[in-house]
Amino acid sequence: MKNLPSDRRNFEDEALKNTDICSMLDPFKLEVMRQLDAELPPLLEKFLSDIDDNWQPSGLLPESSSERFVQDLKEIQELALDMSYELWITLIGDTITEEALPTYEAWVINAEGIDQLGKNNWSKWVRGWSAEENRHGDVLNRYLYLSGVVNMVEVEITTQHLINDGFDTGMGHDPYKNFIYTSFQELATNVSHRRTATLAKKAGNHSLAKICGLVAADEMRHYNAYSSFMDLIFGMDPNGAMTSFNDMMRRGITMPAHLLRESRMPQGEAFTHFSECAQAIGVYTAYDYIDIYNRLLKVWQIDAITGLNDEAERARDQLMKRPKLIEQLAQRTEKPSCEHDFKWVNSRLKRNQR
Ligand SMILES: [Fe+2]
Ligand SMILES: [Fe+2]
Repeated sequence: MKNLPSDRRNFEDEALKNTDICSMLDPFKLEVMRQLDAELPPLLEKFLSDIDDNWQPSGLLPESSSERFVQDLKEIQELALDMSYELWITLIGDTITEEALPTYEAWVINAEGIDQLGKNNWSKWVRGWSAEENRHGDVLNRYLYLSGVVNMVEVEITTQHLINDGFDTGMGHDPYKNFIYTSFQELATNVSHRRTATLAKKAGNHSLAKICGLVAADEMRHYNAYSSFMDLIFGMDPNGAMTSFNDMMRRGITMPAHLLRESRMPQGEAFTHFSECAQAIGVYTAYDYIDIYNRLLKVWQIDAITGLNDEAERARDQLMKRPKLIEQLAQRTEKPSCEHDFKWVNSRLKRNQR
């Protein structure tokens, strides 16, 4: 504050010459984003649900002013004890992942061309997407609170850590890489919530199955949106899109909850254990990663794109070969078991199950 220059105009001219702000933005990708912006309105119409008709968390949970509230609550708590420890840990990990939405919104809104071009359709999409996603953490968090088997303070500490830690996905501010990552992630969360719904149903918990099923359906709609954006980008800039796709897959798509930790425990340790539980009950495994990868290769017709430059041809070649290599690695890896004693659940569940 003490050292602000007296001549603002002169300072700004000088700053522009020296700063690397301009070099952070890729003019070509910005132009692609600017031109695609005009094509977005029908896609927003198609991929975002009408807010006034959309499901809301409270509509799926017991109404606290109802005479049935205590009875409904008792039912939720009884059904909670019929679900396995592994399923609870998976559900809790999924919930915390949803709760770190502020991090994900910041990633996407800061991608080049989303917000930098003024109030455009891209930022309209991000607000709409984020507003829909916000319901996921809300409904699941409230369900955990009502269940009677979750140590909510521990869950909240993990959530605060996850948002506080942030996370580098390797996509930087590149819009192409952002949409590749989100296409992958939306599909991965669809798989995870959908399988959790199936397992909850098997355990006789139909209300939880309905909640997870609705969340999974949102994730699928969001996947369709992000993969359509990438489809348009492949149409306009196939070389840039191909190299970005290969860059992301070479690095590997890291899960958004990768740094998950419990209170006073090392960063990332809880993610390893959470992932072991999800794999143990088949909610999300290395084979799902491979399936999603293959699905993206197919949906963007990677093998059929013509007129690529040498660099993009090399990228395509690597992209097409990689799933087989990952599969060989997965075949050599043993299925893990869910052994870790999480702080996220309380003694009621532990006593009942272990
Ligand atoms: Fe979500
Ligand atoms: Fe999502």
